[in-house]
Amino acid sequence: MTKLLQVSDLRVTFESGFGKVDAVRGVSFSMDMGDAIAIVGASGSGKTVLGRSMLGLVDAPGVVHGSIRFDGEEIVGRSEKELRDIRGLGIGMVFQDALDGLNPVYSIGSQLSEIFTVRRGLSASQAKAESIRLMEQVGIHRASERYDNYPHQFSGGMRQRICIAMAIGMKPKILIADEPTTALDVTVQAGILRLIKSLQAETGMGLIFVTHDLAVARMISTRIVVMYAGQIVEEGLTEAIFQNPTHPYTRALLAAHPGRVRSWRDLEPIPDAFVTDSSGSEAENSTPQVVVTN
Ligand SMILES: Nc1ncnc2c1ncn2[C@@H]1O[C@H](COP(=O)(O)OP(=O)(O)OP(=O)(O)O)[C@@H](O)[C@H]1O
Ligand SMILES: [Mg+2]
Repeated sequence: MTKLLQVSDLRVTFESGFGKVDAVRGVSFSMDMGDAIAIVGASGSGKTVLGRSMLGLVDAPGVVHGSIRFDGEEIVGRSEKELRDIRGLGIGMVFQDALDGLNPVYSIGSQLSEIFTVRRGLSASQAKAESIRLMEQVGIHRASERYDNYPHQFSGGMRQRICIAMAIGMKPKILIADEPTTALDVTVQAGILRLIKSLQAETGMGLIFVTHDLAVARMISTRIVVMYAGQIVEEGLTEAIFQNPTHPYTRALLAAHPGRVRSWRDLEPIPDAFVTDSSGSEAENSTPQVVVTN
């Protein structure tokens, strides 16, 4: 049977006057409807580039090799127009940086409503009602009063929640969420994670969730993919990875909170330990990782 998503030997390279970066180095994995994959790994390990390549959003000078099949259709090498259709039909993404996802010159409400009028054929008044309902679902209080606000009138966390609302409003077959809740406070984060999970249960969409937070990964995913320096170094069922990590990098990640990741609420960021990348130099060490606080 055709896989919902089949990634084979994906390679992404950025080459410029400053040198060459192999951001993704031969990544292969697949997913079906209903799968929830968490991608974890240190800063610079290629998680965002991997996510963006699935929407054909790798910017120049990035070059993509290999194959990404969505519902049997090849994504690598497609024109921008074809990619727009594919994205519209089935793959949605919430970006790490909320400013990527909203247009500053249109009101929040009009950007949300457009999804329902254009993509789902609702009338203007139905679309407004649906938008306000979604705004409330992602925790925007007095949503009907905020409907006509512009992005600059929202806080960063609120904009991020609007981006999440827009992505799930499209009812994608696959939702790629790149650290979507990292900037949000804990109670809002909990609500968003629950919303994404319940939506997934309801629609059977595939979920690819990039996070630094192993407890979030445990809560949201059925499978975990561990990336290190552009490669998948470990992959397996979430509980199996927590019970029995095999790769030294995964062990090191888990060692930051010895066997106690019961709930992601127990966790708080701490600076990452030094990580040696494939070229032998020390990668950035400012990445938040996780530790148990109590
Ligand atoms: N446009 C670009 N030009 C050149 N190099 C890039 C570009 N985008 C990403 N890279 C490089 O690709 C590598 C992977 O970056 P990526 O953003 O995917 O990491 P990440 O795992 O998402 O990290 P983080 O956890 O910090 O978000 C890094 O070495 C980065 O510097
Ligand atoms: Mg990233």
